[in-house]
Amino acid sequence: MITNRTFTMIKPDAVEKGNIGPIIEKITAAGFKIIAMKMVRLSRADARAFYAIHKEKSFFNDLVEFMTSGPIVAAILEKQNAVDDFRALIGATNPAEAAEGTIRKMFATSISENAIHGSDSNENALIESNFHFAGREVF
Ligand code: CMP
Repeated sequence: MITNRTFTMIKPDAVEKGNIGPIIEKITAAGFKIIAMKMVRLSRADARAFYAIHKEKSFFNDLVEFMTSGPIVAAILEKQNAVDDFRALIGATNPAEAAEGTIRKMFATSISENAIHGSDSNENALIESNFHFAGREVF
């Protein structure tokens, strides 16, 4: 199991606000190396498939709506202990509960428009990376 990579998406709210640059700066300053990166607009089918684990949740349709509302930046990141360290860097899902200095505290406005995604396990990091980058050369 690969333990030094994670997957992230800068979400439509952060892209729309012009925060791609500041967020990437925070990520690289924290010691993450960018292994792959692309800006895309997800289709509804993409968003439904990516978040299939949440399909029974009350917020699923709103989540799909939001994640297809504009482009996202998808990336694979590398660092020792990547999954846990990245989740610490982005902070709690709800920005109201996120620690000072975390990406969500700085750039997110609500639990649904929360600026950034980070994989929650090594297994999901691989699944999510493959979802966005499978078939392409990833270094
Ligand atoms: P993310 O880490 O991308 O994974 C699932 C997303 O669902 C989560 O971030 C939130 O942006 C979104 N979401 C919307 N509403 C809720 C909620 N009530 N609880 C948890 N996640 C939510």
